[in-house]
Amino acid sequence: MRQHKATHSDCFNTLEQHYASKLARQESERFFAPGRVNLIGEYTDFNGGLVLPCAIDLGTYLILVPTKKQEFAFFSMQEPEEVRISKQQLMQTSHKQAAWAWANYPIAVLKHFETVLLEHPGGFDFFFYGNLPVASGLSSSASIEVLTAFALKSTLDTKHSLRDIALLTQAAENHFIDVQCGIMDQYAIAHGLEQHALLIDCQQVSHTDIAMPMLENGYQWLIINSNKTRQLRESKYNERRQECDEALALLQNKYSLEQLCDFPFAHINKLEQELNKELLFRRARHVISEQQRVLDFATALANAEVEKLGELMNASHQSLKKDFEVSGDILDELVKISQNTEGVVGARMTGAGFGGCTINLVEADKSETIIQHIGESYQERCGLNADFYLAKASRGVHQIQDRYENQ
Ligand code: GLA
Repeated sequence: MRQHKATHSDCFNTLEQHYASKLARQESERFFAPGRVNLIGEYTDFNGGLVLPCAIDLGTYLILVPTKKQEFAFFSMQEPEEVRISKQQLMQTSHKQAAWAWANYPIAVLKHFETVLLEHPGGFDFFFYGNLPVASGLSSSASIEVLTAFALKSTLDTKHSLRDIALLTQAAENHFIDVQCGIMDQYAIAHGLEQHALLIDCQQVSHTDIAMPMLENGYQWLIINSNKTRQLRESKYNERRQECDEALALLQNKYSLEQLCDFPFAHINKLEQELNKELLFRRARHVISEQQRVLDFATALANAEVEKLGELMNASHQSLKKDFEVSGDILDELVKISQNTEGVVGARMTGAGFGGCTINLVEADKSETIIQHIGESYQERCGLNADFYLAKASRGVHQIQDRYENQ
């Protein structure tokens, strides 16, 4: 069982020490981008719906060093490959390349700054460190994308707003990486606010900050990483997106809808007869009911109706499991253990699923025994060790101006 305790300044120290020889006497700038945990609203983003995530205090750290070379170099403490690409190569590429491994994510973003980068007299060295578990539903890839975009915007002094950054990094993931993700991850990582969740309207690409009063009154968010590696995530993800598009096209024959989430929840009982394919019916039922759960969740948060929050989380998991089929045996077992643990108010898978993390609302004074109990039962039933993070809603991407801000 692991709990995360390192501060931002510990993490920058680790990064500086690791690359001490390369960083010596170099001018450099420091940036941080969080990960995100989605509280509720899964697979509603690319259907024009609402989502309710918050940025967390785990994330990705970057030291950016300007160089005189006509190239970009990428180093990561978590990855063995050091990747270099010239300006020429950047210009000639429009798609990910196997040889660039993990660096495809920052390179995808560089592509969107191509014109400014080509005019810029030199290049950049990027030194990354991350403490987000990779491929686990906490958006490590969106974190490195938003971080890269924000660092380039700040250093090259371009006029991109945080919203522009969210949109351009999503486009980078859609076209360069070839994952047809929605806007949630990049948007939440760009706009996160301490102690708040974000209610994001993915159709308008705008948000409202949402306070979480129950966190002052004895409750906490607990993220549990199942450590079950995600399988087939990218292809299954794109497949789900296509199924939603098919369901929408059928419904559009009869209803005036722009996106699936526009379908009125009050008519959900009519869905089955409108969609004669059973699979498309279940996919659409998840999306439309999840949209309603987000609305109900936001109301319950404002009224500090803790039990209601738990019920909605549990219902969301059930719908993701049965109707949308993006959970899996191990994740279902972990959620079941949580839901049956004394002091856990609600539990569900979070993010794209197919393995990865769960999000749990727990009674704060019981968190130690909850962690102990879930860890042991999970190990006994699934033979895996879970990791636990008590999540803090955190600020979105930002530059670290001086050492004091790191604390
Ligand atoms: C991934 C995607 C998001 C969203 C979630 C599922 O995290 O990047 O856009 O679709 O899955 O809610």
